[in-house]
Amino acid sequence: MELVAVRNLYKSFGQVIAVDGISFKVGEGEIYGIIGPNGAGKTTTLRVISGILKPDRGSVSIAGLEPDEARERGYIGYLPEDAGVYRHLKGIDFLKFVAGLYAESDEAVEEYVSRGIEIAGLGDSIHAPMGSYSKGMKRRILLAAVLMSNPRLAILDEPTSGLDVYYSVAVRNVIKEYARRGGTVIISSHNMLEVEYLCDRLMFMYKGKMVSEGTPGELKKKYDAVNLEEAFINAIGGVYEA
Ligand SMILES: Nc1ncnc2c1ncn2[C@@H]1O[C@H](COP(=O)(O)OP(=O)(O)O)[C@@H](O)[C@H]1O
Ligand SMILES: [Mg+2]
Repeated sequence: MELVAVRNLYKSFGQVIAVDGISFKVGEGEIYGIIGPNGAGKTTTLRVISGILKPDRGSVSIAGLEPDEARERGYIGYLPEDAGVYRHLKGIDFLKFVAGLYAESDEAVEEYVSRGIEIAGLGDSIHAPMGSYSKGMKRRILLAAVLMSNPRLAILDEPTSGLDVYYSVAVRNVIKEYARRGGTVIISSHNMLEVEYLCDRLMFMYKGKMVSEGTPGELKKKYDAVNLEEAFINAIGGVYEA
């Protein structure tokens, strides 16, 4: 069943057309990737879907609702690409704080926090101030805070960017497990090889437009490529301009 429908999205900033007529659908339980180089328009697309930014034209429907209403009902979890942490707050207190914002009862707070602790997987460091965390640890606690309330839709903007292999794998596994349990994910990445492992379907995005869409296997076949990196280059005609 379809959870998200994006129709003809268009968003510009002054002279810059960031998103130029994007349409796609995401089914319940799917991991859908928006793949493209820096400046392609991925972050702008995700901010519109999460309701933070209003499009100039087009519409987004999440379980039949506008993003604002879906957000209000707790359907959306959003991990921004540049999310930071409160340095002096302990990981555990951060999870409790976020759980308190979303949960409707004390039992729910406890349930969210225990799920958050499990997702974060930080061991005893969960009791340390987040200022002492490595980049990978920060990303895991932020991801845990997004997923612990079990939102129907998780919108994750480059969740593994800048992470070493250990934390990249950990974050990918958390995302896979969340989808396996029925959660729906829209993820952006400029790492074409990781999305091959992670995504059920994806779109290539370039200069605000969708260049192509399909499963990793379909895209490799269509562009006669051994991997998605090569498929992307072939899809944009072999000429890459940043
Ligand atoms: N708030 C903003 N103000 C002005 N220009 C922006 C803003 N956000 C994004 N842009 C521009 O829109 C284009 C797409 O950006 P973005 O959506 O961040 O792409 P990506 O996430 O794929 O790197 C870029 O040219 C970027 O400079
Ligand atoms: Mg971005």
